[in-house]
Amino acid sequence: MPTAHRIHNFSAGPCTLPLPVLQQIQAELIDFNGNGMSVVEMSHRSKPVVEVHERALQSVRDLLAVPDTHHVLFLGGGATFQFGMLPLNLLHGGQKADYTHSGAWAKKAIADAKAAGGDIRLAFDGTEHAYTTLPNPATQSSSPESVYYHLTSNETIGGLQWKDFPRVDAPLVADMSSDFLSRPIDWSRFGLVYAGAQKNIGPAGVCVVIISDELLQQCNGQQVNYLNYANHVKGESMLNTPPVFQIYAVGLVLDWLKSHGGVAWAQQAAAKRSGVLYDVIAKSGGFYRCPVDERYRSSMNVVFRLPDETLEATFIKSAAAQGLDGLKGHRSVGGCRASVYNAMPQAGAEALAHFMHDFAASHG
Ligand SMILES: Cc1ncc(COP(=O)(O)O)c(C=O)c1O
Repeated sequence: MPTAHRIHNFSAGPCTLPLPVLQQIQAELIDFNGNGMSVVEMSHRSKPVVEVHERALQSVRDLLAVPDTHHVLFLGGGATFQFGMLPLNLLHGGQKADYTHSGAWAKKAIADAKAAGGDIRLAFDGTEHAYTTLPNPATQSSSPESVYYHLTSNETIGGLQWKDFPRVDAPLVADMSSDFLSRPIDWSRFGLVYAGAQKNIGPAGVCVVIISDELLQQCNGQQVNYLNYANHVKGESMLNTPPVFQIYAVGLVLDWLKSHGGVAWAQQAAAKRSGVLYDVIAKSGGFYRCPVDERYRSSMNVVFRLPDETLEATFIKSAAAQGLDGLKGHRSVGGCRASVYNAMPQAGAEALAHFMHDFAASHG
């Protein structure tokens, strides 16, 4: 087999996946474990697929030390589906919840919570700071009768990340799509966590949802079948035909993560990868500028600007020509963004740091 041509892919998601995982998928695609067919051709109730499914669920549990009080689910519909499913289950009859408005993804979660009929209080509104900062977690509280307090642990577009989480009376609920499995989670504080797979843990098309028994008891039992979390828990995350290929791939990524040292390794590696990029920005004499409050800069999505948009376009194009792809900022904000998720090797971050250094020297 010829050696594959691989570039450093800094896309925000879907994004780079570990090469050994892609190679294993390639090797197993035609004949999965001697079954004479691929994993995507088998019944989801067949023994091999059930084993893949259960193993992936268990890996999430092991990697994040999820206690028995919480249930792990793989659901379709991405994280966007959870923006609505969550309040439909938990805010029936106009119940209250606190939301933090930290940027583009939080905004969507808030809009759906309102559309679902929830009585939503903004515990924090980052609008006046153009979503470049977060509140001090110690200043946060939940309102009386709040069913949950929602936050977006990492704003993928804004490059903004909660480093610690508020200690409030209501259970925390978090959209962790873009930093899931890059740091430990204190389950005594979290009632529900959801994360679309296509950043840190696999291909798009599946979302991990982890829900506590306590919140499950409060779910609206009147929901239509698929929308009811309790039915998914009863069905052991196989209420209907699950996205088998995605779950299989997630399972392989989780095995890969375990082999590297799990979440503790991921956390250190993320700090190191993002660290070299923030360092170039800091030492560029103002050529590169990160708009985000230093205390809350993301270890997953490093956003930065150059002196003007023409230079930004040249930067993105020149980087791509050198195999450093996906550096264009989100279309809603412009600028540049380097997404350095778990599967991005340190060498990729170093290569980008060198390129940034040289580009600043020749264009500054
Ligand atoms: C933080 C965050 N939340 C939610 C989403 C939406 O995820 P999906 O496209 O899986 O619905 C994204 C996608 O990039 C995201 O970054």
